[in-house]
Formats: sequence, structure tokens, C-alpha cells
Amino acid sequence: MELTWWQRGAIYQVYPRSFQDSNADGVGDLAGVRRRLPYLKWLGVDGIWLSPFYRSPMADFGYDVSDHTDVDPRFGTVEDFDALAQEAHRLGLKLILDYVPNHTSIEHPWFTEHPEYYLWADAVPNNWVSNFGGPAWSPHGDRFYYHAYLPEQPDLDWRNPDVRAAMLDVLRFWCDHGADGFRIDALRQLIKDDQRRDNPANPSWQEGDDPYSALFPDFTTDRPEVQDAIRDFRATVGDRLLVGELYLPIERLVAYYASGLDLPSNFHLLSTPWTAHDVAELIERYEGALPDGAWPNWVLGNHDRPRLASRLPPGHERAAATLLLTLRGTPTLYYGDEIGMRDVAIPPERRVDPWVFGNRDPVRTPMQWDASGSFTDAEPWLPFAPDHARVNVEAQREDPGSLLQLYRRLLAARRGFADAPYRTLSGGGQRPHLRPR
Ligand code: NOJ
Repeated sequence: MELTWWQRGAIYQVYPRSFQDSNADGVGDLAGVRRRLPYLKWLGVDGIWLSPFYRSPMADFGYDVSDHTDVDPRFGTVEDFDALAQEAHRLGLKLILDYVPNHTSIEHPWFTEHPEYYLWADAVPNNWVSNFGGPAWSPHGDRFYYHAYLPEQPDLDWRNPDVRAAMLDVLRFWCDHGADGFRIDALRQLIKDDQRRDNPANPSWQEGDDPYSALFPDFTTDRPEVQDAIRDFRATVGDRLLVGELYLPIERLVAYYASGLDLPSNFHLLSTPWTAHDVAELIERYEGALPDGAWPNWVLGNHDRPRLASRLPPGHERAAATLLLTLRGTPTLYYGDEIGMRDVAIPPERRVDPWVFGNRDPVRTPMQWDASGSFTDAEPWLPFAPDHARVNVEAQREDPGSLLQLYRRLLAARRGFADAPYRTLSGGGQRPHLRPR
């Protein structure tokens, strides 16, 4: 079977703020990522997914975009992106950009110049709540607008053809600048119920749980019309890679292959209890649910969830690496997991993430390159991990038995079996089965 680059290889997520600073302001940038490309080449990944670097007031650290076709000055310029793309391609690496179609920043000029691009109501129409807690409708003038996340992130109205056209132009712009694919942010939220019906209550929710999960998001997520938008994305980007951020149960997740999404992100390893039985059952269930021809994928960490090395029992990082990189399908690695970076306790005065319930600062700390903290020459935007003098790339590169070297060997080895079928050898769940090549 002929595999494409993203089937043969692995994806590595770079959180640009935290990867490499090149201008001594404590914040990583695109020129910094370019400087570190040889490391990613040496490691053996194929695609680099860059979290947003577009112009943004940074209420949600770049997921609040105020200009989709410009680079935020903190991260550099469009020319810096072009130089990064050129160098990545010279090294045989692909770039996957974060595409944020569900919402913009409230400071995007559209919010004042094209209010019709957003979702409005004369009075709060229903019980919808924001993913970050609190009501999802906020007042503006004498009306209310809908935001799935912060009030600073108003949702676009994807039923409006002008919104579609403008947002598809954004994809074209970055395709013209060399993007090899896109990770689509908050995809399940993209279209809301046209009748704006109340979301049903979740009877098992208790005081102290995530406020967002008090309701089942039946009328705000995973609406059938989302797939029409994906067809438009596909038609716009040709055969470039399309990854979709979709926190959904397996049976709903796999339905998204139908509209042309290459990789509906499979986050189930992030939430499945870490026992051989539970993990085996998950793998079995997922493999069994995939439609014919659908290519699997697995994720063990990202910028929104606790880090792997902090989530698992001590010492399980090697098993996790082996699992992620030997399962059938495309693996996505989160920067720093390859050296065992852990969640970092952030003192209250340095916390910056606006999401209070699920504070994500601990998983976004600077990449640990060496004992001297060469991420930056300034004070980093988030503190270094206390163990960075010991847990770092430089030390582990020298050590053949390190976690980093294990990742590197596994990444090389998996090229030899990336097209192999999945087969259950024993236990693990229901019926063993063999998927055809
Ligand atoms: C999902 C992103 O991964 C997360 O970091 C962000 O806060 C929300 N979408 C809103 O864009």
C-alpha cells in the first residue's frame, strides 16, 4: 500500500510561545522554531503542527485571532513564516497550521465592520454555557452575542455564506505560503442548532465538576451541518492534510471521515484509565469502528491537557512512547513529551491562562533544551520546570538509554511497519480481528 507522508510519519506539536525565543523577549517565535528544525529532523518526525501565531490580543494565547493572514509581532512576520516554511521543506519536513474558524477575537475588525458575521440575539435565548465556564451569551450594545469560549472570542456564523467565503480565503492564503496541512480548531463547535434549543442537563454532574459538563452539548456541538463545512475545507485545500480537533465519543468521531477529514483527532488515550485492559479495549473498539479506508490516529498529549509524564504512574513514559509509536495510524507528539517534561506548578502570581477550571499553564512551560535554559535570554513567559537542569534534550541526546533516544529509535522503526495491519494477539477485549492491508 502506498502511504502518504502523514501516514508514514509522525506529527509533532509545537506551541510556538514555548519552543524557542530568538529575540530575548521571553516568548518563543517563528525564527526560533526555524533554528530548532534540525532537532526535529534528527528526532525523526515528519509534520510540525504549529499552534496559532497569527495577530492576536492573546486573551486565549493566539486562539483569539484578530488578523488571520498576518503574523503577530511577538512571533515575527509573514516573511519569518516564509523562511520557516522554506527551511522546513528543504529538510523534508511539513508544516501544519492551526486554523481557527469557529471564532475570532472580539478585536477582529469584522466584529465592528461586519456584525452580521457573528451570532446575535435580542435577549439571552437559551441555557448555553461557555467551554470556559459562565454564560455563552454576553451583552454588546442592546444585544447579546454567542461565544463558545471567552467573551473575547465571539463565534462566527457559519450559516452566513460571506463568513464561509472569507474564512476559506484564509486557507488559500496559507496554502499559497506553503502550508502542507491544517489542524482545525474547535471543529465540533462550528455550527449551532438553528432553533437554538436548550441543551439537556447532565444528571450525573456534581458541584465541583467542570461547569461546562453540567449540560450535554447536544445543540451546540457535532451538528450535522459541520460536515458541509468540512467539504468546503477539502475542496479548498486539495490533498493537503486536514486534522480536526474533535472531542467526541468513538462512534461520532469516526463519522467525520465521510466529509473528507483525514484525521479526526483521536483523544481517547488522554482519558482512558491507564490499565492494560482499558487501553486494549479502547484500541479494539476504535479499530473496530473505523470505516473502510479510514486511517487511524492517536494522541497522548497536547497544550490543553495534563502532560503524559504527570498523568501516568511514575516510570510509564517508556511504555507510553512504545504504545503511541507502534499502534497502527498517525501519532501526534506534544513538544517536550519526548524528554519526559512534566506539569510545572505555577505560582499564582504567574498564572496567565484565562481558563480557571482547567488551568493549562503547567503544560505550556518552555522547552527544556539544556541545563542553562537556552529557550530564552530573558525571563521566560512561564517559568522553567524545576527539573530542567536534569531533564533536557542535551543530556538525553548523550545517553543511549534515555527516553529521547527511545522516541528516536521508535520513530525510525515505525517507518518499516507503518502500513502493517492491526491484529489482536490475546485478551484485550472482544473478538480478535484482522484488518486488511
Ligand atoms: C481548542 C484549543 O486547543 C484551545 O487551546 C483553545 O483554548 C480553544 N480551542 C479555543 O480556541
